Amino acid sequence: MLVGEGPGAEEDLRGEPFVGQAGKLLDNMLSAIGLKRGDDVYIGNAVKCRPPHNRTPEKAEIAACRPYLERQIELVRPDLLVALGRPAAQALLDAEVSIAAARGKLFEHGGTPVVVTYHPAYLLRNPQDKAKAWEDLCFARRFMRERVRRD
Ligand code: URA
Repeated sequence: MLVGEGPGAEEDLRGEPFVGQAGKLLDNMLSAIGLKRGDDVYIGNAVKCRPPHNRTPEKAEIAACRPYLERQIELVRPDLLVALGRPAAQALLDAEVSIAAARGKLFEHGGTPVVVTYHPAYLLRNPQDKAKAWEDLCFARRFMRERVRRD
């Protein structure tokens, strides 16, 4: 299960997460590791309403939406949670984290493993970090494969 930040204008209109440019990049990244949203991956957001002018959600907004996200996690029962960007990492880890410092590590949310990586919209603005996001996805995929082998 991937967790993003919150709906943008297009997502708000369509009622679906990641349907804009960032979503296209996300789909391509998933496809590069053989995954397809809907089939293999569920996508949710840390906040459920679009913050005014697309600003970053505030702590209180993340906290207000947390029960909704928790229920999604409870229903999906994912093997792995991937936080896309800082607000998602904050929502899942209940702590202030820097993506640069947290990537490549394994965290945990209510017993479910969590990894963090850059948000695809950040990658559109900072393509020099795409290689790091690729490493993070490979880390997530490796973790999933090892888990399947263990079970
Ligand atoms: N960015 C997000 O974090 N979530 C979306 O659904 C769309 C863009």
